[in-house]
Amino acid sequence: MYIVGVDLGGTEIKVGLVDREKGIVRKVSRATEVDKGPDKIVENIALAIKEVAGDDDFEYVGIGSPGSIDRKKGIVRFSPNFPDWRDFHLTEKVSELIDKEIIVENDANAFTLGEWYFGKAKGSQNFIALTLGTGIGSGVVANGTFITGNNGIGAELGHIVIVPEGPMCGCGSRGCLESVASAKFVGLHARELAPRYPESLMIKFAGDINKIESKHVFKACEENDELAKIVVNETVEVLARAIGGYVHMFNPEMIIIGGGMSKAGETLFKPLRERTKKYVMVSFRGTYRIEQSDLVENAGILGAASAAIFSKGVE
Ligand code: BGC
Ligand code: NA
Ligand code: ZN
Repeated sequence: MYIVGVDLGGTEIKVGLVDREKGIVRKVSRATEVDKGPDKIVENIALAIKEVAGDDDFEYVGIGSPGSIDRKKGIVRFSPNFPDWRDFHLTEKVSELIDKEIIVENDANAFTLGEWYFGKAKGSQNFIALTLGTGIGSGVVANGTFITGNNGIGAELGHIVIVPEGPMCGCGSRGCLESVASAKFVGLHARELAPRYPESLMIKFAGDINKIESKHVFKACEENDELAKIVVNETVEVLARAIGGYVHMFNPEMIIIGGGMSKAGETLFKPLRERTKKYVMVSFRGTYRIEQSDLVENAGILGAASAAIFSKGVE
């Protein structure tokens, strides 16, 4: 029977009907309408689930959302997308409208499970997954165990401090990896520097300095643009430091990277692989691979469904 996967974003809810073997068989999306409050968001989730299922029955629903989420309790402790949710019992709320078991998990943890069941990490016992988007999320599988820690909110590898006293992070700390390497930061940083490089191709690609996003930076980098190369180099540097750290912690065979910025492909991955070598002990050289996720825009839905499959299968 099918499973429903819900990728709960701040602006859009993407929902898919998922077959354990075939992957996504159908998907729909719907505005989240955060401004209309929690009840409306829950209603929109339920409507999207009903719409995607149609006449097909399904077993249960998995929801992936950014933030500190306790899957076992079914609560969102805190989510940057939904600032007024504190210890919000999302699964209970949704199951009042959809008479099925609902499971919620951190979006990047869900992504990790999606990679495990449907992606490049199939069969792996030791890997780390990172999502480079507006925020930086992560998940860890170590010795064949999916790691979430004491409160279920673990594997927030995007919030390790990489630049002491660096830029303010959304989490309230300074200099977290997320604050210096997220797609959002890369766009902002490029906009900040662009006035000093009026010839930069990234301005041309974006059409306007204030519209520069990380994708323009990487595209300009492909064309050897001076400013783009500087920004990409800085981004690669902080990512390499972080990944080097993760390699020492977990001895993973693979680091899988997804999220919007991973679409930059080799322009990001080639220098990242090279630079990471600088930050790993010699004995770790050649023990890990840094890979681009190939689940692309299905990653959120497959991840959410995988979180449900995992939850049902293991506990
Ligand atoms: C949040 C994580 C989330 C990540 C990706 C970060 O800012 O702290 O919980 O997984 O963004 O959405
Ligand atoms: Na996580
Ligand atoms: Zn942070």
